[in-house]
Amino acid sequence: MVENYQKYDYLFKNIKPNAIGDIVILSEENDWRIKQDFNCVSNEEYKIWNQLFSNIIDLASNYGSKEFRNGLIKLNLNSSQFPSINQISNIIKKFTDWEVVTVAGFLDEFLFFKLNASRQFPSTDIIRQSHRFSLKYQYTPIKNEFGYTPEPDIFHDVFGHMPFLTDQNYCNFIASIGQLGFEILKNERNLSSELVAHNLKRLQNFAWWTYEFGIMINQNDNPQNNLKYQIYGAGILSSYDEILNIINCSKGLSNNSIFIPYDIEEIALMRFDYSEIQDRYFVIDSMEHLYKSFIDNKEIFLFDG
Ligand SMILES: [Fe+2]
Repeated sequence: MVENYQKYDYLFKNIKPNAIGDIVILSEENDWRIKQDFNCVSNEEYKIWNQLFSNIIDLASNYGSKEFRNGLIKLNLNSSQFPSINQISNIIKKFTDWEVVTVAGFLDEFLFFKLNASRQFPSTDIIRQSHRFSLKYQYTPIKNEFGYTPEPDIFHDVFGHMPFLTDQNYCNFIASIGQLGFEILKNERNLSSELVAHNLKRLQNFAWWTYEFGIMINQNDNPQNNLKYQIYGAGILSSYDEILNIINCSKGLSNNSIFIPYDIEEIALMRFDYSEIQDRYFVIDSMEHLYKSFIDNKEIFLFDG
């Protein structure tokens, strides 16, 4: 796990000690791949999905990017149907060459990038605040709130990520991040383990500040959105609290977080905190600009000391 290697951390900004705290991280040695069993989905879980979905759908549709809004329609996600990962995966496959695999929890960087490189996206099958979720993390002091949980849950994975996976350009982008992650791990240049871990952390930072918590200049493609920005980060779009934070900060009603113009070098060196609402957001000009910037700057993630 990359957190164990810190030799080059001095190059980073915004280091949060113990930022990943007590989050459970699965590696290849664990039973990470599971089958979603609908018999285990309780009435309580249907109710939580319904509440989370109903609560956030208007905000997310108003302020989400075009890719997100189109994806919501393509997937026909709704409040009354607890998501079937297989069904969603089949729909995604019709639009792009990606599929969704059900996993037991947060995957380490090796597994995650390997899946993405082979055009697969992981999704958990349990939902925050449910009995199953509490039971699974009973010995782990994590946040398990309605508005946000750092442990992955099916609401974040499905509602936040899956709509985007119906867009081929977006999928190509995620695959190219996975492929670069895999290239770093293959380490054909024989870099030290410290350097490999450092480059993976750079790539994690990039993923975090872009497709997890990124925002974009308003493309003026949705009359419902009167903000300067629109949201393409899955971590934001699946968190009621985080969307509200963006609305309030962009309207000047709160100074909890700042908006910073996208700069790939700065992002690659910026660590983050899993457990809190973000204190900053990087703003891209457009998705096309983001895709091109990643392709043009891969060497940032192949640092050799
Ligand atoms: Fe995510």
